[in-house]
Amino acid sequence: MDDFETKVGKAMAAPENQGEMADADAVGTVGSPECGDMMRMWLKFTEKDGKKVIDRASFQAFGCQTAIAVASVATKLLQGKTAEEARQLSAQDLAGDLGSLPPMKIHCGQLVEGALRNALDPSETTDTKPQNSLIGDIHSAKPQGIRIVPLTD
Ligand code: FES
Repeated sequence: MDDFETKVGKAMAAPENQGEMADADAVGTVGSPECGDMMRMWLKFTEKDGKKVIDRASFQAFGCQTAIAVASVATKLLQGKTAEEARQLSAQDLAGDLGSLPPMKIHCGQLVEGALRNALDPSETTDTKPQNSLIGDIHSAKPQGIRIVPLTD
């Protein structure tokens, strides 16, 4: 049976549901205070048996292999869940078949959990700008107060 690292490696080799979702109903973005990695998750809902459920989920990440592997698993696992059911899922739940998150990797799963929660509860979103491409946001980020001063003799 594969260990956690092997499963992460396999999920990383072909991550699923990666990329922006143009017609998403909800978007959530978080950054990890632990490592500075970022994740964005898009959700599309549909009506099934009179309930509003997640039809599709996708993600973009500037994160480690574990975060990407968990997001890949999570986006599949979320299909068919109501928003309330999705809210109940912990980082460990979202890791699904990858297995138990090692202590050093718990925050990687929490990055996925955070992006999901942020998408489900936009009222808790501090960034109210429309959210499209994570890479676009990073490239358009303003310089953070670095001033280059030429040296003169
Ligand atoms: Fe940053 Fe995994 S090390 S999310």
